[in-house]
Amino acid sequence: MIDVVSVASWNADLVSRVPRPIARGETLLATSFEISPGGKGSNAAVAAARQGARVGVIARVGRDDFGRMALALWHAEGIDTQHVEPVEGERSGVAQIHVYDDGDNTISVFPGAGAGLAARHAQAAREMLASCRVAIASCEVPLVATLEAFRIARAGGALTVLNPAPACGLPDELLNRVDVLTPNESELRLLAGTAADATIDAAAQSLLARGVKSVLVTLGAAGCTLYRAGEPPHRLPGWRMTVVDTIGAGDTFTGALAAALARAAPLPEAMRWANAAAALSVTGRGAIGGMPSRPQVEALLAE
Ligand code: RIB
Repeated sequence: MIDVVSVASWNADLVSRVPRPIARGETLLATSFEISPGGKGSNAAVAAARQGARVGVIARVGRDDFGRMALALWHAEGIDTQHVEPVEGERSGVAQIHVYDDGDNTISVFPGAGAGLAARHAQAAREMLASCRVAIASCEVPLVATLEAFRIARAGGALTVLNPAPACGLPDELLNRVDVLTPNESELRLLAGTAADATIDAAAQSLLARGVKSVLVTLGAAGCTLYRAGEPPHRLPGWRMTVVDTIGAGDTFTGALAAALARAAPLPEAMRWANAAAALSVTGRGAIGGMPSRPQVEALLAE
């Protein structure tokens, strides 16, 4: 029995540390380079697994070194891979990441084999989706796969959580299938299509009006805010942490939230867990280096 299913993107993260953002046409010397596991969907799956959830992924990877790296990671994290399709002749996803001295970053993603994820992959995983508690996805995988996965999961009684990253416009057809949307501030504004000077509250309200059940906005070091129709916003402050890098913080938030929802935590309580897990995630290197276990989140919350 699987608790959380991730319609997952997978990327090998090629991470270079540079002092500051690189200007157009400029070359900067990096001070370090690492290849580490990434991809928003895989990251969220790992985060949920480390919180004790039984996790399955629906994914496509190339039959290459980076594809083998994905499978080795998922096996090591105890994640179910029966619905992973390794594809001959296609490259696995790759993300090129620059991390700056202040811990912030920029990322470009080549989705590779992940771009071929389709409705048929969700259908092939029907049994797992129809019996899970929470289905999660991001905008790194094709919309058609997420639409179908969420349709099947919801018909089976599961909750759906969408991390709308990278920022993209989404059709109401999908928004209507989302129980919890977890945008950051810029993703929220793009999705809502509100003016640049519109408040976060106004942007979140406009998404609720379009059919999303709950909008949970992540605000980086400032914490997060939950919006639900007919209720006042529920705000949580952030934790003060020593930042190594912020890669995967949003994915950790989504994965930890899903794991907490899967053990039937009410949304405000699940949000508290996710907020603490995301805070811990920035204290380690790369997307999964700082991703905490459940006892680590418990310990932070007890402080
Ligand atoms: O959210 C962080 C992730 O974005 C990285 O792991 C990278 O692969 C990109 O998908």
